[in-house]
Amino acid sequence: MKFGFFDDANREYVITTPRTPYPWINYLGTQGFFSLISNTAGGYSFYKDARLRRITRYRYNNVPIDMGGRYFYINDNGTIWNPGWSPVKTELDAYECRHGMGYTKITGKKNDLKVNVTFFVPQDYDGEVQQVVLTNEGSVEKSFSLFSFAEWCLWDAQDDSNNFQRNFSTGRVEVDGSVIYHKTEYRDRRNHYAFYSVNDTIDGYDTDRDSFIGLYNGFNNPEAVLANKATNSFADGWAPIASHFKKITLKPGESKTLVFILGYVEMPQDQKFEADGKTINKVKAKAMIEKYNTPEKFEAGMKELKGYWDKLLGILSVSTPDDKVDRMVNIWNQYQCMVTFNLSRSASYFESGIGRGMGFRDSNQDVLGFVHQIPDRAKERIIDIASTQFPDGGCYHQYQPLTKKGNADIGGDFSDDPLWLILSVSAYIKETGDWGILDEMVPYDNDMSVAEPLLEHLKVSFYHIVNNLGPHGLPLAMRADWNDCINLSCFSDTPGESFQTYTNPKFAAEGGYSKVAESVMVAALFTYSGPNYVAILKHLGKDDEAAKAQAEIDKMKKNIMESAWDGDWFLRAYDANGEKMGSKECEEGQIFIEPQGFAIMSDVGKEQGADLKTLAAIDERLNTKYGLVLNNPAFTKYYIQYGEISTYPGGYKENAGIFTHNNAWIICAAAYAGQGDQAFKYYSEIAPAFTEETSDIHKTEPYVYGQMIGGKDAGADIGQTGKNFGQGKNSWLTGTAAWNMVAISQYILGVQPDFDGLAINPSIPHEWDGFKATRQFRGATYNITVKNPNHVCKGVASMEVDGKAVDGCIVPYVDGQKEYNVVVTLG
Ligand code: BGC
Ligand code: NOJ
Repeated sequence: MKFGFFDDANREYVITTPRTPYPWINYLGTQGFFSLISNTAGGYSFYKDARLRRITRYRYNNVPIDMGGRYFYINDNGTIWNPGWSPVKTELDAYECRHGMGYTKITGKKNDLKVNVTFFVPQDYDGEVQQVVLTNEGSVEKSFSLFSFAEWCLWDAQDDSNNFQRNFSTGRVEVDGSVIYHKTEYRDRRNHYAFYSVNDTIDGYDTDRDSFIGLYNGFNNPEAVLANKATNSFADGWAPIASHFKKITLKPGESKTLVFILGYVEMPQDQKFEADGKTINKVKAKAMIEKYNTPEKFEAGMKELKGYWDKLLGILSVSTPDDKVDRMVNIWNQYQCMVTFNLSRSASYFESGIGRGMGFRDSNQDVLGFVHQIPDRAKERIIDIASTQFPDGGCYHQYQPLTKKGNADIGGDFSDDPLWLILSVSAYIKETGDWGILDEMVPYDNDMSVAEPLLEHLKVSFYHIVNNLGPHGLPLAMRADWNDCINLSCFSDTPGESFQTYTNPKFAAEGGYSKVAESVMVAALFTYSGPNYVAILKHLGKDDEAAKAQAEIDKMKKNIMESAWDGDWFLRAYDANGEKMGSKECEEGQIFIEPQGFAIMSDVGKEQGADLKTLAAIDERLNTKYGLVLNNPAFTKYYIQYGEISTYPGGYKENAGIFTHNNAWIICAAAYAGQGDQAFKYYSEIAPAFTEETSDIHKTEPYVYGQMIGGKDAGADIGQTGKNFGQGKNSWLTGTAAWNMVAISQYILGVQPDFDGLAINPSIPHEWDGFKATRQFRGATYNITVKNPNHVCKGVASMEVDGKAVDGCIVPYVDGQKEYNVVVTLG
């Protein structure tokens, strides 16, 4: 069942009922100011950091779901409603929500009054602009009232949600004409405030939540709206809000347009106040309001936003035989890559914005799907991430975006982290040809006095693995590898111990984690990412170092085949007891997805047919109609030696859930191994546009990836096998966005930036006749036509560039050439 449709021409998903199976959200803003907005206008805004600089309040895990947002209430002679249906939930005569690239338009209609609200964050602007168009579509004059509503968060979202003994007494506001200012703590230690304005006179306002809503009422029946009159309340402590009240009369056919702005302002310490030392200096706020306070200015801002996305999405566009692929590649997957790049895993409807900042491994992977859009921002991010590394190559697992400092609460010792830096830096160089990034001086642990060129950070990343090997010559697993839930040094039997940060004291003498537990996943990630480091060294003429690094890679491959090849697939790990994990010999969890793709893509055991055997085992044991499960059979007991993974009921999350992120690695690997049909099958099982038809089962947004889909084992241990099979969770902030962008564009369609230029080496479904692609790359436009007359999956039989035959599959780069016409024939 569907709850809307794709409008590809406008790059929108159009939701046609407010009762979606879960709130379906969008993100506004790409720079400093961000908003989350659901299809009923729920959500919140923050500046740069969803924890430390939260602007409006949102209550997670609420009943009913999705309460709190920016709401417009209409009181039309006692009929009270919202254009987005919620929170009042009066049945509307018409409803529509259009989520587009950086904006959301919600339209509701009731009793001949149509209200259309467009929300967006303009470019280079720290505020959310909301245009409300009210139209009388009836044949008699209408008089009604409009109330706006936003609830301020007291800046630090964590403190805001738990330190009530203090923060119920700190709220402060100012009201100046039609502008409501939130200046909590501004007098003291903060140099930022927020405001909510409207470009018209008002008939009243409220700034105190209890006066507006009433102590025993809810968002669904605010007292002021019921009474059809603002109370002009002035918040002093308790919960400050901002609500404008306006009486409106419209003749038949008449419209009125209002522009509201929810803005954020920072002021230099010495200019914070007016002469009285109390009243806030509003100069910047006024300038911000001035910028978008008319419908014309609003339109100009929307046009600029559209131009921004035209440009970004013009960098790669494809025309394939499958319009769902085109929709994903040309629009939604790229859009999601921007969002994951900006927010890492911090703020979504499943990530509270409090728990996590930017992840070392997460953000490095996000770069892979984003770097072609704005390489300079990718570069800045790479340097920020690398700055949280330690001189020995280890790193903080996370950092806060506001301070850019490593997060000591989480610490380090995640065994895979350093390797992702090699991949992100390589992706940046492949995209741009800018080798200069390697010379950038990058600190360790943010200490500039110990800065070294980025190249050295790659070296310490590479050798952090080599210097931390276990008994089989495989990388030590440490606290966890990519799979946060395989915690081989945890052995936790006490409630409340965080699997991510707790290591059992029995390993204290060994340095904090087992020196026996080894990760095959990291071994394979090493053999996959390592060759990039070697290629960089060779390019720089450092042949000796390159040879030394290559020898380590070769040795690792040998060690994998000697100790981690299970006969039909690769093992997952050795646990702290030295026992195999992910082997036929195991009772449960015999095969895991994570090491397989990277091992295949680095040709480990290829001469023995390990690649095709592994792909066959994956298809047989892990594949389902909704994607590949992470492991099989699911764990049904708690294995203290494995950690968090076996705490999840089977079929969910890392315990045999469909973790879409590592599905992408298998898609890449199948494509790499020439199995284009298999690759595309897995792609179409999870790509959102393909799940649209089953939105009632899938539940989360059909335009973006979620982290996890319930696996085939869900419910098995309660006698309801398949319960929640196919149900998506944790939408939006997942490495799947970047990796499936890589999988479809670079591995299936095969348009792959390489150090030497653009390679075209597709691995497609055999029935495709071919496809076309346009790619902006290093200042030139590549017009690519792929022909598949013999209906093969993979194999470049010939390549012509501007009519001339070329050997291999890399388009030779000619300095200064602005356009390349490339024809590739498979066969
Ligand atoms: C989740 C993981 C997540 C980790 C870190 C675990 O509980 O299952 O997906 O990466 O926590 O927050
Ligand atoms: C989500 C986390 O953000 C990511 O870092 C991790 O690799 C996966 N979960 C798997 O545990």
